[in-house]
Amino acid sequence: MQIIHNKESLINKIREYKSQGKKITLIPTMGNLHQGHQVLFSKAPHNTIKVVTIYVNPLQFDSDDDYQNYPKGLKTDLEVCMQNNITLVYAPKGDISNDIVIEENIDLPKFTRYLCGQKREGHFLGVYKIVKYLFNIVNPDFACFGKKDFQQLLLIKYIANTYFPGINIIDVDTVRDTNNIALSSRLTRLSKESLSSTIRIYETLNSIKSELLKGSSFVKLKERSVDYLEANNIHVEYLDLRSLITLEEASDKLKSCGIFIACYVDDVRLIDNIEI
Ligand code: PAF
Repeated sequence: MQIIHNKESLINKIREYKSQGKKITLIPTMGNLHQGHQVLFSKAPHNTIKVVTIYVNPLQFDSDDDYQNYPKGLKTDLEVCMQNNITLVYAPKGDISNDIVIEENIDLPKFTRYLCGQKREGHFLGVYKIVKYLFNIVNPDFACFGKKDFQQLLLIKYIANTYFPGINIIDVDTVRDTNNIALSSRLTRLSKESLSSTIRIYETLNSIKSELLKGSSFVKLKERSVDYLEANNIHVEYLDLRSLITLEEASDKLKSCGIFIACYVDDVRLIDNIEI
């Protein structure tokens, strides 16, 4: 496994792979790799060069506290990559924000203003910049992203469709533990007790889904669910029924819809979603 810390070496290595006619799968991450990432790695098509990037991108954090507290552990991450037969890891050292070309007047699609875009000022712009930067350098044949970050996945598909039509985006189902908790690097910041209370997040999404399918109204279900979660130390930022295509609010029309949640357990922000 090759470990590369600077952009020039990455560019050279990618050029070499391409000149040998090899296909490349890119898996961008922010490190602290868990089972969810390993499933992303496993979705890289056979016989492709697996390139993993590990970089905690400050541009996508709206709070310095959140950025500073984001779990980091390169040594263990590299071991995980090794065990997963990753061909190359790109782990830039320090903050590369200045290296990322800042286009003027970036006009992100409307759906980035909903859900996480409402509260996390600049988050999707930061994701847009780093992903476009990586796509530009690597220009892979495939790139894998998880459906837990569904809104991010839509943005990435938009970037690929608009600027890199040759990249196939592989979307990967959310990986859950045995209690159905959606795996996230942030879970490591929770106490045992708080972690066990997060079971209620997916449980609630699932129960809303089955009630909706029986004909109940979302407004009522939402009210009841928020009360239940709040009473259990889960502070809801949003709990919405939205179109999976436009992310517009969906009231009670269920075709191609999902339920999306963001909440805080202690000080840790978690997101999840379920398709109807
Ligand atoms: O999903 C993530 O881990 C990050 O948002 C990504 C796509 C690696 C960009 O920093």
